[in-house]
Amino acid sequence: MIHVRGAWAGDLDAMVSLLRTLFTIEADFAFDEAKQRRGLRFLLESDQACLLVAEADAAVIGMCSGQLVISTAEGGPALLVEDVVVAEAFRRRGVGGRLMDALNDWAAGRGVSRLQLLADRNNAPALDFYRRRGWQPTELICLRCYARQSR
Ligand SMILES: CC(C)(COP(=O)(O)OP(=O)(O)OC[C@H]1O[C@@H](n2cnc3c(N)ncnc32)[C@H](O)[C@@H]1OP(=O)(O)O)[C@@H](O)C(=O)NCCC(=O)NCCS
Repeated sequence: MIHVRGAWAGDLDAMVSLLRTLFTIEADFAFDEAKQRRGLRFLLESDQACLLVAEADAAVIGMCSGQLVISTAEGGPALLVEDVVVAEAFRRRGVGGRLMDALNDWAAGRGVSRLQLLADRNNAPALDFYRRRGWQPTELICLRCYARQSR
């Protein structure tokens, strides 16, 4: 039986392991255990973020996160969705869908009108997953740069 719940500090090892799986797939990211653990701790401590895990027989087998951002386009909060991953042995059983539904409910309860995420353009299974759940591509592309450190 699958159970989706809010994450807590005791889930950190399992979530880091899931992020290893995710970041190994995504060309734009490299797995770094210390960084991912630190990022997860920030999410756990933030009241602007939601970190969810899916459990099967008391083992964490999936996760996702969402962070509130203010959108002037929406005139209110939007949700940045990240860290969506289900352990390979548990895929195609509805776990990912359950996680996304729970994230949607958390966001809707906070006045969020739009959810957004970045996906690897070559990740066909994930793009299919999102498309079937009503997500649509946009005309935007993602740019990034690293912050210059002040001297
Ligand atoms: C993308 C991902 C999170 C989806 O998780 P999942 O648990 O497999 O998702 P679901 O089971 O809810 O849905 C996946 C498919 O299984 C199907 N499915 C759901 N329940 C099912 C069941 N009981 N029996 C058979 N198929 C089922 C769904 O129809 C869906 O198919 P579709 O996408 O072709 O419509 C997962 O594939 C994953 O972890 N991928 C690697 C990480 C990744 O790419 N993350 C996204 C980063 S942007």
